[in-house]
Amino acid sequence: MVKMETAELDTDLSLFKYDNLEQLPPRYRELEEDERTERIDAALEDLGDDVVILGHNYQRREIVEHADFIGDSYQLSKEAAEADAEYVIFGGVTFMAESADIITDDDQSVILPSMEASCPMAGMAEALQVDSAWAEITAAAPDADIIPITYMNSYADLKAFCASQGGLVCTSSNAHEAFEYAFNKGDKVLFLPDKHLGENTAHRLDMEEEIAEWDPWDPEGKDADEVAESDIILWDGYCQVHERFREEHIDQVRADNPDANVIVHPECRREVVEAADKAGSTATICETVANADPGDTWAIGTEIHLTNHLQRWHPEVNVVPLCGDACMDCNAMRQIDPNYLTWVLEELAEGREHNVIEVAPEEKELAGVALDRMLEI
Ligand code: 13P
Ligand code: SF4
Repeated sequence: MVKMETAELDTDLSLFKYDNLEQLPPRYRELEEDERTERIDAALEDLGDDVVILGHNYQRREIVEHADFIGDSYQLSKEAAEADAEYVIFGGVTFMAESADIITDDDQSVILPSMEASCPMAGMAEALQVDSAWAEITAAAPDADIIPITYMNSYADLKAFCASQGGLVCTSSNAHEAFEYAFNKGDKVLFLPDKHLGENTAHRLDMEEEIAEWDPWDPEGKDADEVAESDIILWDGYCQVHERFREEHIDQVRADNPDANVIVHPECRREVVEAADKAGSTATICETVANADPGDTWAIGTEIHLTNHLQRWHPEVNVVPLCGDACMDCNAMRQIDPNYLTWVLEELAEGREHNVIEVAPEEKELAGVALDRMLEI
């Protein structure tokens, strides 16, 4: 494969990219649930087919109850691609809304109800930072074709960067297929930003001996000559919600109930995934509990809202949070407050759009290539 020039992307710190996003007007801040539900239903009735609401599995109950589709990142990106509504309201975080904007047609608007919903892990790999790491690593491995793969949990400029270098996007449900695609095409993979998903995927492919880590914040942690000797280079990013789970939590659950089964998200540490009975995306976690026999116990190692939903959706199964009260909610996902949903819907019904996510045109096309490659694998 011919090496491409490093992309020159005009990029800013991702968290502050959307400075046009607005805060909730004070009159929406104290709504009671009954009133809010009535007002959301009335606005949805007015808007009819013009609007579709997509809700990630980690959203609060009051959001998923209004969602037309609930799912994991992969399912929601497919739903966004198929949606023909004029407005796609995204109950999720910024990178998901960006991906929806890239995938939907130009005459559709993607609305992220709250501006604060930014995944910290996505912010751990800034395109500018990756661009300079790329220059160092490719210089240290001049004869190798390195394929960059970015997890869906990344900003559009990084997705665009990966496409420009022959790479692609993956989600937690198809990371192993993205690695296979990359190794068919090139010699090495640079995986961003989640080192745990990268490590878990390398294990799944029996390539755990091939791993090296690149820590962009530690001058001692990024030796280009050293990492260039490995086939899989992992960016040192992580999710705080999932890093919290430890093997001791699994031991404790099994000590409390020897029949308990454990399922965790692949953003968890390697040893946790290894010790669990099963690991998979949020959709896999949902399917597993949906298919469990009545009376089975499943301990869930992921964001607490999903565990709570599963307890409500499947009362016949004994669903428990893997680390009890210490399980975290995702601060970014939590920002999608139902009051924000009420506000954006009522405003849309009056013909006013707020908090529209619009990826810059120069990023949109290339990031779209990276997403299309994922949808094709
Ligand atoms: P899924 O793709 O499994 O839904 O996960 C998204 C996410 O943000 C996990 O933290
Ligand atoms: Fe990001 Fe973790 Fe929240 Fe997922 S759970 S959106 S990875 S911070």
